[in-house]
Amino acid sequence: MIKKYLLTPGPTPIPDEVRSAMADATVHHRTPQFSKIFTEVREGLKILFGTVCDVLVLAASGTGAMEAAVTNLFSPGEKVLVINGGKFGERWLRICRSFGLQVVEIKVEWGKAVKIETIEENLHDHPDIQGVLIQASETSTTALHPIRDIAKITRTGPLLLVDGVTAVGVLPVAMDEWGIDVLVTGSQKALMVPPGLGFISLSDRAWARTEKAKLPRFYFDLALERKSQAKGTTAFTPAISLILGLRAALKKILEEGPDRVYARHERLARATRAAATALGLGLLAPENPSPAVTGIFVPENMDADKLLDYLRDRMGIIFAEGQDQLRGKIIRIAHVGYMGAFDVIVAVSALEMGLKRLGFPVKFGQGIAAAQEVLMEALDEGLKEKS
Ligand SMILES: Cc1ncc(COP(=O)(O)O)c(C=O)c1O
Repeated sequence: MIKKYLLTPGPTPIPDEVRSAMADATVHHRTPQFSKIFTEVREGLKILFGTVCDVLVLAASGTGAMEAAVTNLFSPGEKVLVINGGKFGERWLRICRSFGLQVVEIKVEWGKAVKIETIEENLHDHPDIQGVLIQASETSTTALHPIRDIAKITRTGPLLLVDGVTAVGVLPVAMDEWGIDVLVTGSQKALMVPPGLGFISLSDRAWARTEKAKLPRFYFDLALERKSQAKGTTAFTPAISLILGLRAALKKILEEGPDRVYARHERLARATRAAATALGLGLLAPENPSPAVTGIFVPENMDADKLLDYLRDRMGIIFAEGQDQLRGKIIRIAHVGYMGAFDVIVAVSALEMGLKRLGFPVKFGQGIAAAQEVLMEALDEGLKEKS
């Protein structure tokens, strides 16, 4: 037997409580029992979204929620600004083009954050832009974009649509306070639930736009969903088992406390980065790293995919690969959701062994020691709190 460790930025590991909640008997979705659970879940999500607005639950992966955002807010031919800094920025682009929007694209070097001035220039040159679409955390390049600062310039202008798939529940995102108009995420990252649920919240300004928006929509008609969900059910049959799992996951998150969850993600990310640096490896996004996932360059002349295959097939350690031009050059180690200090230790230890097996001169323990230094902080803080 090889024990498996799922250390990817989604799907992420599922806690036992969530797994057993999903095994409970199906609760029919047109009953008061379901409404109670559903309402509780939607209230919990509001905390992670940083909003008092409705958070709608869709039976879809995150991409479904992204598509819903576009089709409910725009009309054919309208102009939008898409920040394309990786695979998921590209996804916004493809969704917008599929629905006949005019797209102005800002291409961002992979691993970097978009510059505020570039957004300002584009908004100045194209005063008819109706929406700015961006990722908070671009999972493919492990980089964060400065959403809070971007929101300052869109507040009184175009709508700001944020893909928070590896940001909501990972790091603080204050939708209302910052002025985000649309925020989406999915179930299989920080929320510790299997894939299959998409979530979306709209500001009042965005809801007003939905009334004018003419793009075709049926399954993802958010106004219809809003009406149903306010009554404690969904317009169509929901993914009931996943919602039961989500209730258990939110309970766990709220018991730990969102701030502690965010601090844990940040600490695990720092430990992972410290380990990679101690091993002499470069980071993909050193200036603006996501706390969800760390991108690490493998040594020159090493094929990252061979390393990943070896780690997965011989050691049971599953990291994520690089995409497109980064394929074969990087690995991505996640530390989001149901993950703790010793997942980092497992990850780094396996990385050291895999690198050595593929011929890179590793001094065993060097990466682990660097990670341990960071991870000790949490224990020291714990001691301080107790005394
Ligand atoms: C930032 C980001 N956006 C969108 C998606 C797409 O979500 P899904 O695969 O759930 O459709 C992902 C998935 O990894 C993601 O990380």
